[in-house]
Amino acid sequence: MSTFHSIEWKDNKLRLIDQRFLPLETKYNDYENAQDVADAIRQMVTRGAPAIGASAAYGLALTAVHSPAASPADLRAQLEADAEILRESRPTAVNLFWAIDRVMNRAADPTLTSAGAIRQAVLDEAHAIYKEDVATNKAIGYNAMPLVPQGAKFLHHCNTGSLATVDYGTALGIIRIAHEEGKEIHAYLDETRPRLQGGRLSAWELKQLDIPHTVIVDGASGHLMRTVGIDLCVVGCDRVAANGDTANKIGTYNLALAAHAHDVPFYVAAPTSTIDMSLENGDLIPIEERNPREVTHVGDCQITPDDTPVANFAFDVTPAPYITAIITEKGVVYPPFKENLAKLFAAA
Ligand code: MRU
Repeated sequence: MSTFHSIEWKDNKLRLIDQRFLPLETKYNDYENAQDVADAIRQMVTRGAPAIGASAAYGLALTAVHSPAASPADLRAQLEADAEILRESRPTAVNLFWAIDRVMNRAADPTLTSAGAIRQAVLDEAHAIYKEDVATNKAIGYNAMPLVPQGAKFLHHCNTGSLATVDYGTALGIIRIAHEEGKEIHAYLDETRPRLQGGRLSAWELKQLDIPHTVIVDGASGHLMRTVGIDLCVVGCDRVAANGDTANKIGTYNLALAAHAHDVPFYVAAPTSTIDMSLENGDLIPIEERNPREVTHVGDCQITPDDTPVANFAFDVTPAPYITAIITEKGVVYPPFKENLAKLFAAA
């Protein structure tokens, strides 16, 4: 386990590590209601698809535990109102909606006939999502091991480690397990403009784990593939469509194109909770656009002329043909993704 908790349920409060201050300061915030959790998700206190999902589930647990509602109907109405607020917090990572739906389905169980029973069920479901996430990430890591050669040089984008999940991580979990298995790997980390998840968060995590790594600017990936030689790219995802098209942090698509040009395998680490079988293809995935200030400023320092027009897409979609395989906790899925993802879900 990691030396820190990205998410923790403590004394009927939700404690989140405030990722905005890392790596310079390790600061934790306590939350007592779902509205504040929604703000924390929106402001990127907590971030990364699985972490957002688990945080939202606990947001609903806060409603369940602290609501004065005495009847099942009143409590369910309050939960529905707060679920709506949480759903509005960020649009792209499907884990948010998956976790909220899962908790709300549990709360709707007609065999729960008292407010007390609903309270307990909601809290249990949030704890279940939390616990399952760690096991899922480890399974993804072990499933990936046959794909990782001895001495592998990885290229990784964004942050997909313990901070982006409950613990362990998805793509960074693969790097972590490869290191633990003695594969003598080296991880090159895209710094990931504009929020610098790679430079700030992934580097912080790998430093603590003593895993050899080097931070590069996003634009250096092609140069590294051509000169140093990269064995494989591993990235996380925020939403995978039924045909395998994958939304992930902006810059992932460029990385996939560079990998394709250099014959470097490009792997997406995806818990099945991030696969949205209701969307036929990636064009249907909502792409978040964020505040232009994330681009015009680095910290408090303005780096563009006043009033420079900015487009700040937070995610992009990598078309399925550029993805070598999707590594899930249930196994490695190869093209054709439409058929093989359908089979994976049918088997589950
Ligand atoms: O905007 P963020 O920081 O929430 O984006 C995070 C990413 O895009 C991650 O790479 C993705 O969620 C995978 S999480 C294991």
